[in-house]
Amino acid sequence: MLAMARRVTKAVIPAAGLGTRFLPATKAIPKEMLPVVDRPAIQYVVEEAAGAGLTDLLMVTGRNKTPLENHFDRVAELEETLAQRGDEEKLAAVRAPQELADMHYLRQGNPLGLGHAVLRAHQHVGNDSFGVLLGDDIIVGGDELMREMIRVHEATGASVIAVQEVPMEDVRSYGVVSPRLVDGEPERVDGFRWPCVRLAELVEKPEPEQAPSNLAVLGRYVLRPEVFDVLEQTAPGRGGEIQLTDALQVLAKNPDIGGGVIALVFDGRRYDTGNKLDYVKANLELASQHPNIGAELRAWLRENIDQLAGPPEA
Ligand code: UTP
Repeated sequence: MLAMARRVTKAVIPAAGLGTRFLPATKAIPKEMLPVVDRPAIQYVVEEAAGAGLTDLLMVTGRNKTPLENHFDRVAELEETLAQRGDEEKLAAVRAPQELADMHYLRQGNPLGLGHAVLRAHQHVGNDSFGVLLGDDIIVGGDELMREMIRVHEATGASVIAVQEVPMEDVRSYGVVSPRLVDGEPERVDGFRWPCVRLAELVEKPEPEQAPSNLAVLGRYVLRPEVFDVLEQTAPGRGGEIQLTDALQVLAKNPDIGGGVIALVFDGRRYDTGNKLDYVKANLELASQHPNIGAELRAWLRENIDQLAGPPEA
């Protein structure tokens, strides 16, 4: 397969999900706007994309998503007030989001699933390969991951997805992959910072007994534009939604369409901020690393960890 990739500079950030796992917090604001330490979750994702050289970003939004657009826009009045006060630090914090990337927005319309959200980006992305970063996933060191995924794509011409090992009993919450086998061994693609394997199959949220592996799909992808043609033909699958996983399954099974699919096995930390427990963990990890509050928080945690009470016993 000829490598025919051009430099990847565009990315799609799907952020139109309903966020039902985080109700009632997400009743009036999107889950991507929930703060993680001192900025909304979505800002980490946009910082990550920009850090990986993806500077043309299309955010696919839905109901209640105006705050997302406002966050990456100028607020002249607030900036003026801070400038008059000479508060440079806060002024820089207010300006940072709007300076990260060239932001574009599109309403998904009906939230018919992640595959549908990506398909809506077709006109903007055109015939280029592009990144996809789920707006509610925070990945520690994610810009390095994304940069490496782009390298794999540019070297092989394949679509690339990030996966991570999860406990077998958790696979029913994820898309799960199975590597292509050559002489009974996974077909590896060498030369990259993380292990990479070519894929034979992907399954959305399988029962553990039916899962082909415990390698779960994270919310990071580098996709060839051929995925749009496949998505056009993809019928609603699990949950009545158009599943991106189903389209990737077609690309994996038919490498002649779009160069196949490679999974990069990432070993870093990832938090799904649409999930309450992960959200709290993300706050703890990122707050612990924060230059202003990290040291104090770590000391507080060490002192109080044994006194943190669970729910009263029934
Ligand atoms: P989730 O599986 O987290 O679903 O979506 P959700 O609807 O956002 O949240 P819950 O399950 O109700 O709590 C995964 C990603 O796909 C996006 C979401 O915004 C999230 O980034 N998505 C999902 C869309 O953009 N559109 C959709 O129709 C569905």
